[in-house]
Amino acid sequence: MADYPAVYALWEHAGPGVALRPSDQPEEVEKKLTRDPDLFLVAEEAGQVVGVIMGAWDGRRGWLHHFAVAEEYRNQGIGTALLLEVEARLKAKGCLKVNLLIRRNNPDAKRLYERLGYQEMSTIIPMGKDL
Ligand SMILES: CC(C)(COP(=O)(O)OP(=O)(O)OC[C@H]1O[C@@H](n2cnc3c(N)ncnc32)[C@H](O)[C@@H]1OP(=O)(O)O)[C@@H](O)C(=O)NCCC(=O)NCCS
Repeated sequence: MADYPAVYALWEHAGPGVALRPSDQPEEVEKKLTRDPDLFLVAEEAGQVVGVIMGAWDGRRGWLHHFAVAEEYRNQGIGTALLLEVEARLKAKGCLKVNLLIRRNNPDAKRLYERLGYQEMSTIIPMGKDL
C-alpha cells in the first residue's frame, strides 16, 4: 500500500484506457492486494513506480485490470514485461486462460494484446452489475 499514491497517480494520468471507479479507492485496492498479492505488480525505475498491472485469479480464469505505464516510459517493453510476468504467474497457478476488457477507443492497447496472442471474443457481450 506504500505504492498506492504513485499507482493511483499513474492510473489517473493513463488516459481513457483506464477508468477510475470506487474500486480504486485505497480500502478497495487493499482488498485486492490482500487477495492476490503476487499478481498485483509494479515496474520501478530508480525507485519510482512507472508501470502497474493488476492480475486476478478466480480459480477458473485469469483476469487483467488497470494495466498502465507512465507516458514517458512507454514503448520500451515495460508493459510487455509486466504482462508476461503476470501471465507466467497465472499459468503457474494452473490458469488455462486469461481475459481482459479493452475500451473500444483504445486501438493501441488492442494491438499490443494481439501481438502477445490475445484474440477478440467477438461473440461475447460483457455485462456487469453494481452490488
Ligand atoms: C498499454 C500500455 C500499458 C503499454 O505499455 P508499454 O510499456 O508502452 O508497452 P510496450 O513498450 O511493451 O509495448 C508498446 C509498443 O512498443 C514496442 N516496443 C517494445 N519494446 C520496444 C523497444 N525496446 N523499442 C521500441 N519499441 C518497443 C512494442 O512492440 C509495442 O508495439 P505494439 O503496441 O505495436 O505491439 C501503455 O500504452 C499504457 O499505459 N496505455 C494507457 C493505459 C491503457 O490503455 N491501458 C490498457 C488498458 S486495456
